[in-house]
Amino acid sequence: HLHVDHATPARVAEAIQAGDFHPVIPEYEALAAYRAAGGYAKLAELRGGGDWDAVQRTVAASGLRGLGGAGFPSGKKWGFVRNNPGPRLMAVNGDEGEPGTFKDRYYLERVPHLFFEGMLIAAWAVEAERIYLYMRDEYPAVLHILATEIAALEAAGLIAPGYVELRRGAGAYICGEESAMIESIEGKRGLPRHRPPYVAQVGLFGRPTLVHNIETCHWIARILREGPEILSSVERNGRTGLRSYSVSGRVKAPGVHLLPAGSTITDIIAAAGGMLDGHVFKAYQPGGPSSGLLPASIDDVPLDFDMLQTLGSFIGSAAVVVLSDRDSARDAALNMLRFFESESCGQCTPCRVGCEKAVKLMQAPAWDTGLLEEISQAMVDASICGLGQAAPNPIRLVMEHFPEEIGGTGDAPPTKGYGTEQARDV
Ligand code: NAI
Ligand code: SF4
Repeated sequence: HLHVDHATPARVAEAIQAGDFHPVIPEYEALAAYRAAGGYAKLAELRGGGDWDAVQRTVAASGLRGLGGAGFPSGKKWGFVRNNPGPRLMAVNGDEGEPGTFKDRYYLERVPHLFFEGMLIAAWAVEAERIYLYMRDEYPAVLHILATEIAALEAAGLIAPGYVELRRGAGAYICGEESAMIESIEGKRGLPRHRPPYVAQVGLFGRPTLVHNIETCHWIARILREGPEILSSVERNGRTGLRSYSVSGRVKAPGVHLLPAGSTITDIIAAAGGMLDGHVFKAYQPGGPSSGLLPASIDDVPLDFDMLQTLGSFIGSAAVVVLSDRDSARDAALNMLRFFESESCGQCTPCRVGCEKAVKLMQAPAWDTGLLEEISQAMVDASICGLGQAAPNPIRLVMEHFPEEIGGTGDAPPTKGYGTEQARDV
């Protein structure tokens, strides 16, 4: 592999010339600097006799929700795990595979110990006997930082040797699905499991397991160090908290933008420096390909959990990709379905065959919208995991909002009620 941090074409060319195939390690806050600024004092205090109920209440008061994309209340999850008898385990999901998402990488390359301290506090809260840290292999600099700092934590006596085990992913998107990740950690092929039972009951090696995303742990440390108000006091458009939007596409300043959770696409584009010169805002992916594409006309909805459901979308991992008048919504949707076709684990027929058939139908000069809708509904109704259930979102949203791009034959698609009885009747 050739991996260069913050790669630009010039830097890649330079690296190739120099025969440098090693990751460039960014400057980050290492253990000594983090401790000098008060880091790990909270963990020490809790381990010295903290009240886990009080910690859970603090996390709940902040409103923190799982930042892998599902938004499940974090404090509540601790309660579910603790309700099951030990030994318990923890698995951290660092398989940041949703295209356009790079917030976990952003934080780990700068302040990895906020993540580590949050992870260790969560492990303390559920009395996890061991932590498995699953990190995507496409982040070599991050892997280096994590391995170095785990060794430093062991040397400092903050964790027992082997307490945190770093595992490398192997490039499969599906291994970011929590039960597939657990299968992968167990040494098996990454196939999602049926739920229930949830991993809080039957997780790694059959044990109750707490699964958190990297950024969720980052905020757990900040909430306990700085108070729940760092999230609960931020309000915009009736929403509370902060979101790390990974912004890319036709904007002047792509990158991670930390903004109030009630931000609209207008706020996000403004924070990202506005549209590139000569580009007119046309559409956006609000939260990864699983969230599909929305038109520029929907510009007043807070891009937060629970706010996009009625539109047939969701915010997920907050990976915002901005498209302009030079982009084709139809091509973008086809690209997304090709991705899902390639990444489907193939375990269930609606997803495996549905993605493949959808890709073929979407390449026709005119889309057979009736058949595409039928396939979409079967995928939503009968796929085992979120990949197959969400894969139709780009198809349906393009049929609804960009009909002029797809020609169109067959029955008209439903215009609302995705996943409802009304849609099934169509
Ligand atoms: P989910 O809502 O089914 O579950 C979320 C979490 O809550 C899981 O840890 C689950 O075990 C737990 N949970 C839910 N109900 C529970 C219950 N009754 N008892 C105990 N635990 C419970 O969502 P899922 O399928 O895990 O994640 C979907 C999200 O993942 C999507 O929003 C998508 O955007 C995101 N995603 C993020 C990626 C990334 O790179 N960050 C990649 C792909 C998808
Ligand atoms: Fe695999 Fe797709 Fe079924 Fe998920 S929905 S289990 S990715 S085949």
